[in-house]
Amino acid sequence: MKVIAVYSTKGGAGKTSAAVNLAWEASASGSVLLWDLDAQGASTFLTGVKPKLKGGVAKLVKGSNSISDVVRTAKFTTAEGQRAVHVLPADDSYRELELMLDSAKGSRRRVEKVLKDASGEYDTVILDCPPGASLVAENAVRAADLIVTPLPPAALSLRSLDQVRELVAESAKPAPILAFLSMVDRRKATHRRAAEKLSNEVKEIVDVVVPATVVVERMGDEQAPVGTFAPRHPAAQAYRELWSLIADHG
Ligand SMILES: Nc1ncnc2c1ncn2[C@@H]1O[C@H](COP(=O)(O)OP(=O)(O)OP(=O)(O)O)[C@@H](O)[C@H]1O
Ligand SMILES: [Mg+2]
Repeated sequence: MKVIAVYSTKGGAGKTSAAVNLAWEASASGSVLLWDLDAQGASTFLTGVKPKLKGGVAKLVKGSNSISDVVRTAKFTTAEGQRAVHVLPADDSYRELELMLDSAKGSRRRVEKVLKDASGEYDTVILDCPPGASLVAENAVRAADLIVTPLPPAALSLRSLDQVRELVAESAKPAPILAFLSMVDRRKATHRRAAEKLSNEVKEIVDVVVPATVVVERMGDEQAPVGTFAPRHPAAQAYRELWSLIADHG
């Protein structure tokens, strides 16, 4: 089981969009679990599963519920047939997660522990992390074999990436970071310049650019990954390439 945390301290960077699309790509070749760790519940919404975690996140994190008790399945139909992404949805109980972790024993290892109990069931786990450097993020980073960080073409992205590096370096089990350019609009000179700067200066960056496009925004209307409704669009191709680099990584 490979655990991938899609994480940046920066809000609105394209984490959730990447998490959902990567989960979709991963489902082509194995079983995948997408864990929505963000109280906003965006990946829960985008996969169209019921936004309710049975028993709340406390029971899951404390071990009185296991993943199989509360997991939901998002089924997507495409020209090639049906594929499933298993989803641990976020609901209101996630608002208390930070406090709950803070008072729990082994407060940085709870997510890792929950996943360990399900390690035979999934080939891939994708963690959709909230922004910021929270205890939830520390848990995700600790559980992860790889950190995937979207970088929108803006000066602030370098600073966010530094914060990610710092948080990862502080982990007891620092995982490698894989960064990619996200939401790039090539028509904008500022984007072209920032994208070039990031490509040159970020050693963790891979050669994948997710373009800024309404097709990614349409995921909200379709409640589905782009690969299901626009599989040949450059955004879908970018997520596919990104997944293939992740799958080959380490
Ligand atoms: N490539 C893209 N092109 C256009 N819009 C995008 C793209 N990627 C994401 N968006 C839009 O930008 C917004 C933020 O994206 P997303 O939710 O993926 O970011 P996030 O990093 O998960 O945000 P948060 O920090 O709030 O969790 C969403 O409305 C999404 O539809
Ligand atoms: Mg998000």
